[in-house]
Amino acid sequence: MANRSWLPYSISGEIVRGFGRGSNELGFPTANYPSSVVDALPDSFECGIYYGWAKVNEYPVYPMVLSLGYNPFYNNTKKTMEIHILHNFSNDLYGSHMTVVMIGFLREEKSFKSTEDLIDAIEQDIAIAKEMLQKAECLRLKESFSYDL
Ligand SMILES: Cc1cc2nc3c(=O)[nH]c(=O)nc-3n(C[C@H](O)[C@H](O)[C@H](O)COP(=O)(O)O)c2cc1C
Repeated sequence: MANRSWLPYSISGEIVRGFGRGSNELGFPTANYPSSVVDALPDSFECGIYYGWAKVNEYPVYPMVLSLGYNPFYNNTKKTMEIHILHNFSNDLYGSHMTVVMIGFLREEKSFKSTEDLIDAIEQDIAIAKEMLQKAECLRLKESFSYDL
């Protein structure tokens, strides 16, 4: 039975290229983990949309939203983990090392009638994530996360 008892959960790995739709069609570039990292997740780890913190190489820790699963809007057959970091990086991040800590579950993955509806949902995810990450327990996790790396 898929569940959320794994949270908070930390993952590290290299950033690889996704299908490229994130930045082109949606306007939300995502940093993707390779399948070796995704396949190493516990079997009972629930698919869905999460929020937390991300750190790339020597950059500071930034807020992130993460999508884990099959992207029903695009009918993917392979499980992916895609991270949208709430920071504008000026360079491309492929090949960089990224560590994330997933803190909270936002919602299940859904299919949508249109790309605009998916974009609206992601905007809403980001707004909720920003609010949740201001809570003291999330800020404490950010601090210990920064020290650990
Ligand atoms: C916060 C967030 C929420 C998302 N929610 C959904 C969703 O509900 N349904 C879905 O099919 N895809 C969802 N996606 C995944 C996008 O469809 C995905 O990032 C896009 O296909 C880009 O993938 P690519 O970079 O591999 O091309 C979400 C992505 C993010 C970052």
